[in-house]
Amino acid sequence: MNPKTTHPDTIAAQALGWVDERTRAITPPVHVSTTYLRDPDNQYRSGRVYARADNPAFDQAEAVINALEGGHQALLFASGMAAATAVFQALKPGDHVLAPKVMYWSLRNWLMNFATEWGLKIELIDMTSPAAVKAAVQPGKTKLVWVETPANPLWTVTDIRATAQIAHEAGALLAVDSTVATPLITQPLALGADVVMHAATKYLNGHSDVIAGVLVTREDSDYWQRVRKVRAQVGGTLGSFEAWLLARGLRTLHLRVRAASASAQRIAEHFHGHALVAEVLYPGLPSCQGHEVAKAQMKGGFSGMLSIRAKGGEAAAIAVAANTQLWKRATSLGGVESLIEHRASVEGAGTPAPLDLLRLSVGVEDVDDLIADMEQALAAAHR
Ligand SMILES: Cc1ncc(COP(=O)(O)O)c(C=O)c1O
Repeated sequence: MNPKTTHPDTIAAQALGWVDERTRAITPPVHVSTTYLRDPDNQYRSGRVYARADNPAFDQAEAVINALEGGHQALLFASGMAAATAVFQALKPGDHVLAPKVMYWSLRNWLMNFATEWGLKIELIDMTSPAAVKAAVQPGKTKLVWVETPANPLWTVTDIRATAQIAHEAGALLAVDSTVATPLITQPLALGADVVMHAATKYLNGHSDVIAGVLVTREDSDYWQRVRKVRAQVGGTLGSFEAWLLARGLRTLHLRVRAASASAQRIAEHFHGHALVAEVLYPGLPSCQGHEVAKAQMKGGFSGMLSIRAKGGEAAAIAVAANTQLWKRATSLGGVESLIEHRASVEGAGTPAPLDLLRLSVGVEDVDDLIADMEQALAAAHR
């Protein structure tokens, strides 16, 4: 199958048309071996030595994700955080990095603590404003600009093409956390990004049963080789069975993402202007930040993630989450079941999440059931 001429739905459904040449199986085996035989003349012609560095269990998922992103190479990691931190660990002490003020909170914590203590100069800025990026970038000193779009938990949108141009003019790389958009909706590499990161835990796997991460590069480079070494030497390596589950989950990515995005759009429109809702945050709403940019760089939907701000403040928001029945009150996102959480309770002190904000991950259930459940939870919270 030629990934350049084949529709992404077909790439995903058929896992690039992969079959096991030896057994004719159309799903891959689970490779569990941790080590590989040396050749009689002391070489390793298979290219595989030890499964911390490399594992045939990764091949299919890496190839499918790489094809969907239009990249040069993909690398699986043991979690989204292992993938994201590898991007920064491959930099050098003293390197200047721009990252958004609004982003996945655990990575922001790591950047402001470990990464800073290890010598990276991290500066958090308003990444939704190309003018702010331009003002903050230090030519020659800034080595990386990190973008998350749409960004947790306000779903703010960053213009990837404009930001890539500013980063490149300053000699910096652009890396994009595209977990929420998925490659079905946005292909950051085609817009100029150098590296794409996904918490594969979310939509790529899609069933809330695997923790995994992935990086995809636009091209090979010394920097990418350092990223490869971080995976092999630091050892944030995915397990074989998790890689197999991820490859299976990917086969329905297009169906799940399309269904979740269509339902999220309906839910956003339904609760926009609702008597018990102060605000709906969703890039698919014309009233929301970044809608015009989102229309240009998100195709076929605006993702399955939105937030609603409950009228009545924090207590009302927590009461809504406590009263849903179909929406499961849990953290995470991108699974087939819909989740709700009071975000400030998870993120703790210093969160940019308003105290009345509920983060919603829309699954693939019937959308009218989801709307009805949210209606009754809102009503119950105000009783
Ligand atoms: C946007 C985003 N990036 C990164 C991560 C980290 O992924 P993981 O939990 O697999 O380490 C998450 C997890 O919630 C996320 O939502």
